[in-house]
Amino acid sequence: MKLVVGNQKAYLQKSEVINFIEKTKSELCKNAVICPSSLYMEYFKENSSYILGGQNVAMLDTGTATGEITAKQLKEMNAKYTIVGHSERRANQKEDSEMLVGKIKRLYENEITSILCVGEGREVKEQDSTKDFVGKQLIDVLDNLTKEEIASLVIAYEPVWAISTGGAPSVTPTNEEIADVVSYIKDLVNDKYEVSLKVLYGGSVNSKNIETLNEITQVDGYLIGGASVKPDEFNYIMEKCLQ
Ligand code: 13P
Repeated sequence: MKLVVGNQKAYLQKSEVINFIEKTKSELCKNAVICPSSLYMEYFKENSSYILGGQNVAMLDTGTATGEITAKQLKEMNAKYTIVGHSERRANQKEDSEMLVGKIKRLYENEITSILCVGEGREVKEQDSTKDFVGKQLIDVLDNLTKEEIASLVIAYEPVWAISTGGAPSVTPTNEEIADVVSYIKDLVNDKYEVSLKVLYGGSVNSKNIETLNEITQVDGYLIGGASVKPDEFNYIMEKCLQ
């Protein structure tokens, strides 16, 4: 079974959340992870059987952090996973490796699995430097964690150029390209830290490409954005990955 994680970003209003839960109700939900906007976490907790995840966490476990959500608060919401270092936050909130290390440590202390996102932008891809770039993103964080903390992670490989923007037609890498980078990530973590980790793929995963993506044996699951807020899309993906 693949690990299916829906990153609902900031797409939904409350009425749409209610509709999503209603239209995706099935036995499969209890094996899928949904990372809702934090405003709706409690609603998901009370009204669905999804495994819950956060989209972000504060790097410090302190009350004096206006606008933040702490790992302790996520734990109270029964979150089992939390996304760390999503490319949108790296770009917009200027999150750097030091901040990501703090976030992962707080999550580890609260027994929440961090989903650490890595991935190259279009320019890096065109310069054929994907592995160097992704390798550095990983090492900058992993070098500052204990072996136990590293072993608690899931990695998500999300090439920034493949993430849907809502407007432009989406592009996905070929299966060979994904397999190559995912294998590289697994080997690097194995060789350098002696830990074997699950690696997810993210970037325009949808009902049309899920069966093709499922042929990549190295990929342990998916981090899904746009298709995780569309009930029909998400139902189809859950059917193809969770049974
Ligand atoms: P899309 O599936 O919309 O491309 O988003 C991917 C993503 O950013 C998940 O974290």
